[in-house]
Amino acid sequence: MTGPRIYLPYDSGALALGSDDVFKALPGALKKRNIEAEIIRTGSRGLYWLEPMIEIATPAGRIAYGPVQANDVESLLDAGFLTGGGHPLRLGDPEQIPFLRSQTRLTFARCGIVDRNSVEDYRAHGGWKGLERAIALGPDATVDEVTKSGLRGRGGAGFPTGIKWKTVLSTPGPQKYIVCNADEGDSGTFADRMIMEGDPFTLIEGMTIAGISVGATKGFVYIRSEYPHAIHCMQRAIAAARKANCLGAGIAGSKHDFDLEIRVGAGAYVCGEETAMLDSLEGKRGQVRAKPPLPAHKGLFGRPTVINNVISLASVPWIMANGAKAYADFGMGRSRGTMPIQLAGNVKHRGLYETAFGLTLGQIVDDIGGGTASGRPVRAVQVGGPLGAYFPRALFDTPFDIEAFSAKGGLVGHGGVVVFDDTVDMAAMARFAMEFCSIESCGKCTPCRIGSIRGVEVIDKIVKGDRRAENVALLTDLCDTMKFGSLCALGGFVPYPVMSALTHFPEDFGLVAKAA
Ligand SMILES: Cc1cc2nc3c(=O)[nH]c(=O)nc-3n(C[C@H](O)[C@H](O)[C@H](O)COP(=O)(O)O)c2cc1C
Ligand code: SF4
Repeated sequence: MTGPRIYLPYDSGALALGSDDVFKALPGALKKRNIEAEIIRTGSRGLYWLEPMIEIATPAGRIAYGPVQANDVESLLDAGFLTGGGHPLRLGDPEQIPFLRSQTRLTFARCGIVDRNSVEDYRAHGGWKGLERAIALGPDATVDEVTKSGLRGRGGAGFPTGIKWKTVLSTPGPQKYIVCNADEGDSGTFADRMIMEGDPFTLIEGMTIAGISVGATKGFVYIRSEYPHAIHCMQRAIAAARKANCLGAGIAGSKHDFDLEIRVGAGAYVCGEETAMLDSLEGKRGQVRAKPPLPAHKGLFGRPTVINNVISLASVPWIMANGAKAYADFGMGRSRGTMPIQLAGNVKHRGLYETAFGLTLGQIVDDIGGGTASGRPVRAVQVGGPLGAYFPRALFDTPFDIEAFSAKGGLVGHGGVVVFDDTVDMAAMARFAMEFCSIESCGKCTPCRIGSIRGVEVIDKIVKGDRRAENVALLTDLCDTMKFGSLCALGGFVPYPVMSALTHFPEDFGLVAKAA
């Protein structure tokens, strides 16, 4: 195909905002003008307030336009947008948009740029280099490299990835597995989805490197059913990778075999917890397993299993291609490398922002996020999903770092940052946390199963003014019981949003007078 190249996202966020309508409007409008053009479906760059964002390849580089609706297509063509012509929606070089320019894109370097279906386009943009190096180095040295990079799990717990891999490597077993956790249940998070829809080969390459490193020949990607486009993209990418001998027997001419299968979840938050996910993968009702045994010793079907989040695995190709030190040079403290921060909720610039650990929460919300979308003052920010604490402005100097957040009673988790303005009712948010837990509890342990229902009742009493002091003491005691007596972090972490709301926003519970 000759003629101009038009890049248009096929990403759930962009699709929801009308990118398929633009896709349908383009051929007719191009034909009317006798223009032949190639339309390439990419992922999203992650600047959602500008989606659908179209990019055109020009001799001077890419030029972006957005947000484009189907009825803008005619005027864009009239303005000569195929050669980068002027138009009110012209954004110029996308890489120069401040939100993108100031990022450090390692894991998301190709997202929104490459043809998500093409093994060769992936290669042309630096793909498969990490795999080649891992094959050349062999298992021990590859695990060593991942350990030295300082990569820690991006799914929530922040456990060192290399140490997990080393445990599986040194555990004997006739069959080992790699399981990718793509359940992505945290509120305000979408990084896993963006990678699967925009650069699926990065995940496939990361899982293959994991397989070769620990001696696993089979991998599963557990994707939430709410992600039909991601499921479709991953299925196509796996088929294409097999055809190109990047999956299957004798990968890339080596002696290693590794293949992948997609499994679809059924809509339970708790199935993102790694052992409940194993039950679900085995065809059982997703219920949390007691540890030990660790999944690394006895995981899927009782075999040694690596379980990692999408972003943890998708970070590995960059590490292997560029070296552990290059990755470890980014970050602060024990949080090395970059984190894809996902800005959501009531925030002006909603999107994905990959950066080295260490920015303060204030910089993320005020400078990068641009404050609230409503224009009202920011009152609270929940970081780390539904089990993360609510931070008031007084804590905005906290650096985005796993230990620094934990020291303030918070959670970096999967990097979701959900912003609320001054109309938020924090007692209602605390009640919601308990209610969420009661609905999503797997039911295995009492503090979570029963405690969350009692929690809703006690919060209702506090708000109504029913023996407030006594009920606050009861809620505090209940939260302590849930924190220390729950089997997993669902029941164990719900106290964080509840107690942070109570501590930082007591006026919403009627405990102190509201400021006039
Ligand atoms: C209730 C609950 C839900 C979770 N949901 C997810 C999830 O959706 N995705 C994820 O990667 N990890 C989730 N986790 C964390 C996993 O249990 C596990 O730590 C992670 O998948 C390990 O991968 P990582 O080391 O690469 O982070 C959840 C944990 C709990 C307790
Ligand atoms: S804390 Fe809740 S979700 Fe976790 S094991 Fe106990 S009952 Fe299940």
